Amino acid sequence: MPLPLIHYLYPSNLSKYLRQSENDAPTWALITGSTDGIGLALAHRLAALGSNIILHGRNTSKLHRCQSHLEATFPTQSFLTVTTDASSFTPEDIAHITATVSSLPLTILINNVGGTSPLSSNFKHFEDTTPKEISALFALNILFPIHLTQAILPILQRHTSPSLILNIGSQSWPGMPYAATYSATKGALHAWSRGLAAELHHIMAVIWGLDLKDMQWGKFKNSYMWNREYHQRRTRFIVYQIAMIFCVVSESLGTAALSDYVDQQNFVAVKSPGATVHNNNFVGIASYNIFVGVYVATIFGSAFFFDLFWPERSESPAVKLAWRICSVLACMFTLSAALAYTYIVAAKSAYVTGTDAGTATRLLIEYGGSPLRYRENGRAVASIVFLWIGMVATFASTGLLWHSLSHIDTHGPKSTHARVRDGLTEKPTSNPEVASQAPSV
Ligand SMILES: NC(=O)c1ccc[n+]([C@@H]2O[C@H](COP(=O)([O-])OP(=O)(O)OC[C@H]3O[C@@H](n4cnc5c(N)ncnc54)[C@H](OP(=O)(O)O)[C@@H]3O)[C@@H](O)[C@H]2O)c1
Repeated sequence: MPLPLIHYLYPSNLSKYLRQSENDAPTWALITGSTDGIGLALAHRLAALGSNIILHGRNTSKLHRCQSHLEATFPTQSFLTVTTDASSFTPEDIAHITATVSSLPLTILINNVGGTSPLSSNFKHFEDTTPKEISALFALNILFPIHLTQAILPILQRHTSPSLILNIGSQSWPGMPYAATYSATKGALHAWSRGLAAELHHIMAVIWGLDLKDMQWGKFKNSYMWNREYHQRRTRFIVYQIAMIFCVVSESLGTAALSDYVDQQNFVAVKSPGATVHNNNFVGIASYNIFVGVYVATIFGSAFFFDLFWPERSESPAVKLAWRICSVLACMFTLSAALAYTYIVAAKSAYVTGTDAGTATRLLIEYGGSPLRYRENGRAVASIVFLWIGMVATFASTGLLWHSLSHIDTHGPKSTHARVRDGLTEKPTSNPEVASQAPSV
């Protein structure tokens, strides 16, 4: 994961796998290799979140010890066990596990079992690895997960609740010396996981709850962009874009003016080493305005694309709060930039020190750039005009965004017109089937 921080900023999606959409009862998770290490920790974590667990291992007494401990720790949850040696499994073993879970509302399969236990030592030269060890390693790390998943998949797919298949890989997958065969099994597991995810994209190719296959060029067509399906979406699209365009044009004009004042400073300093042009108040406010333009474009640009590609996404209260906070910050940033920028340009001028007035005037004429009095700078004035319009549109966008979030909480994302047409008088997501299909963020 290139952005590990995202795990801490975004809420976990795990909860959506833990209840049956039909009756809200707890679901079951099958975790292979769950009598120790990562598998046992995952069993505790999922049980704490409210899931029932099927523990898998190769040692019956160790399995029963883990089951008793979990039952004592989580008395409201249910626990079952299945025993199979994954490094020497048979088709009958797979059938036995499948039969154990077939009548349960299973929504999570964690293929965790694996490692180097079939080897006489964790790290060894490849030429010392015996054929028996190689076969057992492949059985444990790749063949068992593949065969088990193939048998379990129809059970995961038979209900409307979302399902999760989690394969525990390893950083060794690109190839690690003295663990070459183990690396090969994890490389195979990695490739199989990606292939399976693409094949089962309707349940797996979802990043942070947003299905990437919904990002389609066709959604920019007039007939889709401007349809009346979603509450005030057309108005939001227009107002968001006005906010973005005016703020970005303002920061671009300001950047052009800023760059000329920086060049002026450098020119005078080079020509007359003791002389300094004091125009940092303009450079500072124009720099702040660049940040404001980028910020507004990021927030309302994201809102635009999220509404275009995923208008029916389901967002957690934390994500909705983040939208609200970010939009209010956009108002504060644009207002403060507009006030300070207007004051500086209207009332302030650059000036030169470190040389006599005659030399300063000669150097400024020689440079031939921006006037010292900021209000005589056409680009600076135009930048401010665009900023004020962008600021008004940012306030309007914030109002629309807040209103749309409240509307979604009460009626869902659809417009009144679409709800009446579809005969929906209730909030659309109260239908469990619809709720289960909506990607959640
Ligand atoms: N720990 C790491 O640093 C690390 C790093 C990268 C990847 N991984 C991967 O993470 C997963 C879990 O690793 P871990 O470190 O948590 O392992 P662990 O502490 O050794 O636990 C492995 C679990 O799998 C069971 N198991 C081992 N061989 C089995 C077999 N032949 N048949 C049935 N059950 C078997 C063990 O049962 P017993 O209690 O009977 O032994 C135990 O419950 C593995 O896929 C591993 O490749 C681990």
